[in-house]
Amino acid sequence: MSKKVVVTGGTGFIGQALVRRLVSDGHQVRVFDNDSRGSASRLKDILSDIDLVTGDIRNADAVARAMAGQDAVWHLAYVNGTEFFYEKPDLVLDVGVKGMVNVIDGCRKHNVAELIYASTSEVYQTPDVVPTPENVAMIVPDPTNPRYSYGAGKIIGEMLALHTATKFMEKVQIFRPHNVYGPDMGWEHVLPQFVLRMQALCQQSKADPLPFPMQGDGRETRAFNYIDDFIDGVMVMAEKGASGEVFHVGTPEEIAICDVAKLVGSYFGRSIEIVAQPLQKGGTPRRCPDISKLRSLGYTPKVMLAEGFPKLADWYVAHNHENPHRSDRS
Ligand SMILES: NC(=O)c1ccc[n+]([C@@H]2O[C@H](COP(=O)([O-])OP(=O)(O)OC[C@H]3O[C@@H](n4cnc5c(N)ncnc54)[C@H](O)[C@@H]3O)[C@@H](O)[C@H]2O)c1
Repeated sequence: MSKKVVVTGGTGFIGQALVRRLVSDGHQVRVFDNDSRGSASRLKDILSDIDLVTGDIRNADAVARAMAGQDAVWHLAYVNGTEFFYEKPDLVLDVGVKGMVNVIDGCRKHNVAELIYASTSEVYQTPDVVPTPENVAMIVPDPTNPRYSYGAGKIIGEMLALHTATKFMEKVQIFRPHNVYGPDMGWEHVLPQFVLRMQALCQQSKADPLPFPMQGDGRETRAFNYIDDFIDGVMVMAEKGASGEVFHVGTPEEIAICDVAKLVGSYFGRSIEIVAQPLQKGGTPRRCPDISKLRSLGYTPKVMLAEGFPKLADWYVAHNHENPHRSDRS
């Protein structure tokens, strides 16, 4: 059945992929984003198929207007990117908390029936169970560390979804993405940063192996979930998952960061030697989701990192000149 759906954060990396899927599934999609991190240009080929609203999620009136006449909201707008958690924790919390309150108030005002909220694997910080199931405790290990602004804002968002939105909405679901990646995923993430740094080092040095400095000794692990698989996962959740539930969306393919660096080196045809540097406080040594809950509904990730990574790397090599962090850009 075709629905009227708002996607907040819809010009972002995950948002644009979700918008495309919803449009191709026959839904009428309204995108709400202020383009602070996303870009409407990501949707330029489908602009005539969507209703694009530019607005700030912290603006209660603008958010309420965007909810008028809608059946469902996917709330993704948030300040993402590790550097921002350290540098702008106040902004992260403002967008996270006010944004969620405004979305829920807008839904209440306009009788929107469904809310799907994007949380994060970072609500666990350093989980003592890995692979991590959904029922592991969410924590803020040190409120004085700005790093935790991101996870704390999401924990508040989840509580508001489960205890406020469920009071008046027919369906409320939460998904916790685990390291989603793909072309055009943003610049402040480990895979794009490794690609761009490796490319620069390869141009500067013929050393074999090539010294590759990185935070930590590379034993930390992550499980990288390709964007197409990820979108399949959230659609399975939305179609088959129960209301009031939380779902991991990710892959069980856990990989050490040193092996990621080797994969990046081999993309450029080079062998590398890790040069360990101090880890930033607040990093997580291991992260990998237990996805049994979503699997039981029929979700299976299909794209291994070795297959998905070159698609990301090709994109960043081709778009290197757009990198906002390049030293030769003003
Ligand atoms: N990418 C991942 O691996 C990952 C992992 C865990 C959680 N998430 C969550 O999934 C969602 C989407 O992530 P993403 O990777 O697409 O990030 P993204 O930064 O590409 O997208 C977030 C979008 O929110 C928008 N936004 C930010 N502040 C806003 C504001 N004040 N008003 C309106 N819009 C605003 C940005 O412009 C951007 O388009 C986020 O909620 C993020 O926290 C993503």
